[in-house]
Amino acid sequence: MDVYEAISARRSIRRFKDAPLANEVVEKILQAGTLAPSGKNRQPWRFYVVSGGPKKAEMVGILRAALQRLSAEGHNMRWPEHSVDIIERAPVTVFVCNPEGQRPWFSHGSDQAMMQVVDTQSVGAAIQNMLLAAQAEGVGSLWICDVFIAYDELCDWLGEKGELIAAISFGYADEAPAARPRKPLSDVTVWVK
Ligand SMILES: Cc1cc2nc3c(=O)[nH]c(=O)nc-3n(C[C@H](O)[C@H](O)[C@H](O)COP(=O)(O)O)c2cc1C
Repeated sequence: MDVYEAISARRSIRRFKDAPLANEVVEKILQAGTLAPSGKNRQPWRFYVVSGGPKKAEMVGILRAALQRLSAEGHNMRWPEHSVDIIERAPVTVFVCNPEGQRPWFSHGSDQAMMQVVDTQSVGAAIQNMLLAAQAEGVGSLWICDVFIAYDELCDWLGEKGELIAAISFGYADEAPAARPRKPLSDVTVWVK
C-alpha cells in the first residue's frame, strides 16, 4: 500500500469485529513502530501487548474501577467510558510506554523535561508508524489516551517504572467511518518570509 493511501484511508476505528488478530500481524505492526525515527536514536519505547484471557479481564477491571472512582468524585466520564468499552471489545490493546520517562506530574529538572519532550515526539512517531502499518495490513486501530484515568494503576500492573504514553487498540474494523474534518492547510501554515 502506498504511504499516501495509508495516510488518507486511516481512520480511528471504534467498532471491531469479534475476530482475533494473529500474533504475526501484531508483531509486524510493532516492528513498524520500532522503525520510527527517535531523538539521538534512543528508541524510547516499550510495548505491552494485551491480547485476551485473564490479563485482559484484569486490565478492563482496572479501567472500570477508575471510571467508578472518578465518576463518584463528580468527573464527567462519558468519553473515557466509551474508550473503555472499545478497549474491552478490541482483540488487542498495546500500551506504549517510555521506560526512561517520568510520570507527567513529577517535577522534572530542565534536562529531564527537555529529554522527555524529545522522547515523547519519538514515541508519537512510533505510534503513527504502527497505525499506518495496521492500515496496510487491513487492521483498524484507535490511539487512546483516556487510559490516563488509571495511569498509576496501569503502570503498576504492567510493572512499568517509566512513563505511560498511550494505548492503541487494534482489530478488524466493523465500521467504515467517513473522514473526520481537518483544518484547511492555509489555516495551519505560515510561510515565513
Ligand atoms: C494523542 C491522541 C489521543 C487520543 N485519545 C483518544 C481516546 O482516548 N479515545 C478515543 O476514542 N479517541 C482518541 N483519539 C482519536 C482521535 O479522537 C481521532 O484521531 C480524531 O478524532 C481524528 O479522527 P481520525 O483518527 O479518524 O482521523 C486520540 C488521538 C490522539 C492522536
